[in-house]
Amino acid sequence: MARKAVIETFGCQMNVHDSERIAGLLEQSGYVMTTDLVEADLVVINTCSVREKAQEKLYARLDDVRGKNNKERPLVAVTGCVAQQEGGKIADQTRTRIDAVVGTQAIKKLPMLLAEAEHSNRLQVDINPYDDVSFPLGIATRHDPTKAFVNIIEGCNDFCAFCVVPYTRGLERMRPSQEILAEVELVAAAGHSEIHLLGQIVNHYQDPQYPDFDFPQLLRSVGEVDKVKRIRFASPHPRHVSDRLIEVMGESEKVCSHLHLPLQSGSSKILKSMNRRHSREYYLQLVNKVRKNIPEIALSTDIIIGFPGETENDFFETLSMTETVRFNSMYSFKYSERPNTLASKRLPDTVASEEKLSRLMRLQDLQKNIQIALNKELVGRRVEVLIDSRSRKRPNELSGRTPQNTIVNFEGAPDQIGDLTIVEIDGSGAHSVHGFQVQSN
Ligand code: SAH
Ligand code: SF4
Ligand code: F3S
Repeated sequence: MARKAVIETFGCQMNVHDSERIAGLLEQSGYVMTTDLVEADLVVINTCSVREKAQEKLYARLDDVRGKNNKERPLVAVTGCVAQQEGGKIADQTRTRIDAVVGTQAIKKLPMLLAEAEHSNRLQVDINPYDDVSFPLGIATRHDPTKAFVNIIEGCNDFCAFCVVPYTRGLERMRPSQEILAEVELVAAAGHSEIHLLGQIVNHYQDPQYPDFDFPQLLRSVGEVDKVKRIRFASPHPRHVSDRLIEVMGESEKVCSHLHLPLQSGSSKILKSMNRRHSREYYLQLVNKVRKNIPEIALSTDIIIGFPGETENDFFETLSMTETVRFNSMYSFKYSERPNTLASKRLPDTVASEEKLSRLMRLQDLQKNIQIALNKELVGRRVEVLIDSRSRKRPNELSGRTPQNTIVNFEGAPDQIGDLTIVEIDGSGAHSVHGFQVQSN
């Protein structure tokens, strides 16, 4: 009987896609995937280290493996950003026996390391850096019927003072455009019509061999691939939003009118100590330029509350920026000190935990009201929706997103998943809108 594997995934889209790659590799070596921890012969925990809470989830999950798994001894592998950061030390911090710790750059070696662990009965660790960012085509197992993640850059050289990613993902390495386009062709032909290009600073892309082949050029080329209906990308950096990128986004029918522009703080003083390399003024000018050239654009952002040295006045600047820009959506986080980072070495975590929480609530309240107002403006309008799933709340409804990334729920048949349709909006909330189909195509 085939052996069964569970993969648990924490963290960003990059990690979700790494899990798709891991699933493909394991299926090739004879495993069948399951979501049931109880019957798993192999448990892979693909970890995130971006905030302390994310890292703690690893240890909670390792406890679950001991408590909930029925097998005498499942194989256990830890992959992802905590694996890269902690290496073999993870095994000393849990009572669950671990067989392999595999860093972010060694994923391809996972099946081999697992076989070696079984054979030798010893923990295998590979957290070496590898320059090679190639990954064989056709291996990743994609479960989402409409979307497909495609990596274009691995790692990051920016070293924002709060961020662990350059340490866990390594330095920035670009994937050849030929390989990217070959993967896009393959996944589009298999029915994934929405391509999500991934990189820590995705708009910093440049083909390693042909420097003129940059991110706007890549967007154009992906748009020319047969059967690609939509293109999204994450995460761009405000500093690298060039006039050409704005031009290509404005022109292209396929590149969605949505730009995620991580702001992190509204205070130029805090941005400077974060080493973000963009100021409040630059960001506001950029927002104006983008909106002038692409009037239908939706903007989203990431904010960190309570970075060392953040005063009530700095926080007020974040609130005022939020009011001025009126983001369509926002991810906001309390600052969490991370190992190795510049902030952890130089800047004591000064803002009290209750203060961080209270500021976060104030920001989230403001943002919620903005979203309610923006979504209300959609009522009565017709929008284009790519249907991606059944609605989570109502079984007879479907769910999809507009090019602006707004979630739309409406009645429809499950065989429409993957189609583009037109929906007239008749109701709205803070996180989604509701409507009815007026025409399918
Ligand atoms: N490469 C992406 C961000 C990756 S991390 C970019 O540059 O935008 C995703 C988000 O997590 C960041 O934008 C930031 O808002 C948040 N984040 C990162 N490190 C953090 C920390 N130490 N504490 C709290 N939030 C953090
Ligand atoms: Fe982290 Fe900054 Fe790099 Fe984003 S750009 S991954 S926040 S170091
Ligand atoms: Fe987390 Fe690593 Fe992504 S730290 S956010 S899984 S790059």
